[in-house]
Amino acid sequence: MKAVRYREYGDSTVLVLEDVPTSQPGPGQVLVKVTATSFNPADAMLRAGHLSEILPLELPHVPGVDVSGTVAALGPGVTGWAEGAHVAGFLPLNADGASADYVLAPADVLAPLPQGVDPVDVAALPGVGLTAWQALFEHGNLTAGQRVLVNGAGGAVGGYAVQYAHQADAYVSATAGPRSAERVRGYGADHVIDYTATPVAEAAKGLFDVVVNLAPTSPEETDALAALTVDGGVFVTATTPPATAPGRGLQVVQMAVRSDAAQLAELLNRAAAGTLRIDVADRRPLADLAAVHAQAGQGALKGKTVITL
Ligand SMILES: NC(=O)c1ccc[n+]([C@@H]2O[C@H](COP(=O)([O-])OP(=O)(O)OC[C@H]3O[C@@H](n4cnc5c(N)ncnc54)[C@H](OP(=O)(O)O)[C@@H]3O)[C@@H](O)[C@H]2O)c1
Repeated sequence: MKAVRYREYGDSTVLVLEDVPTSQPGPGQVLVKVTATSFNPADAMLRAGHLSEILPLELPHVPGVDVSGTVAALGPGVTGWAEGAHVAGFLPLNADGASADYVLAPADVLAPLPQGVDPVDVAALPGVGLTAWQALFEHGNLTAGQRVLVNGAGGAVGGYAVQYAHQADAYVSATAGPRSAERVRGYGADHVIDYTATPVAEAAKGLFDVVVNLAPTSPEETDALAALTVDGGVFVTATTPPATAPGRGLQVVQMAVRSDAAQLAELLNRAAAGTLRIDVADRRPLADLAAVHAQAGQGALKGKTVITL
């Protein structure tokens, strides 16, 4: 099968398209014929070796933590799936990923793809969609009527966070640059702050029960965001931790997304029902993956990019 792999950590030039043998599924695994995967900032961090101490990879490594595809074969002990079933999943970060014709997935990370969901574009959802859900509801404990600030709403995770928080009847403030502001308003944000024009603390109009930080902030920016949380509120960051302990009874959570097939199934059902928008900026063939990584490194990606097989 065709796969993009890297044999050493480095810049985008370590990514090579090559022919590799297709593995057979072991116990608890499903072999998935890949329809699409997507680019995530974590793919670049893993490739560059920035996470090698906490998450060492066996090299060569195939990147791509999101998968949309069809079940091709079942490993011993796997039940509940039939060959040809359409599935999506968020794959373990330290195993070979979906930038290949086939990927081995743990059966318990896969969710069924409902009718009406685009099998290519849905590859843009799993990792970022789960991150946003877990940030708001598992860590932030957001409830109806609360005020939430979504920092980084112009990004893929932030866009889903705004949609979920709006649907949960929270008051949603969101930061977005000029290129993303209109899209973020369309997701249901009540107040959009242009973080490129005004310091967020100045424009925020009060404090928030929950603040979720989903942007690559500096430690100082993170501290300023934590300061916007009410006494006893929850500050969740998916990126940089605060440089100083905020005190005031704040619960500070540095989150790491985990796979959850039941949560993903719920998000897929929302997408099928038309209540969750999956926005994709670009669709690129597998042969372009190194170029996509290079563009991401230059800040030149148009937005969420899916990779088609
Ligand atoms: N901890 C975890 O489990 C976890 C999981 C997933 C992702 N992440 C991390 O979360 C971050 C977002 O991921 P993503 O997939 O959404 O990335 P993304 O799609 O590349 O979005 C990043 C967006 O953040 C906005 N942004 C950049 N700097 C900002 C700032 N200082 N203040 C406010 N917004 C800013 C920009 O949007 P505009 O300028 O267009 O508004 C940019 O497009 C990444 O750093 C990623 O590594 C962490």
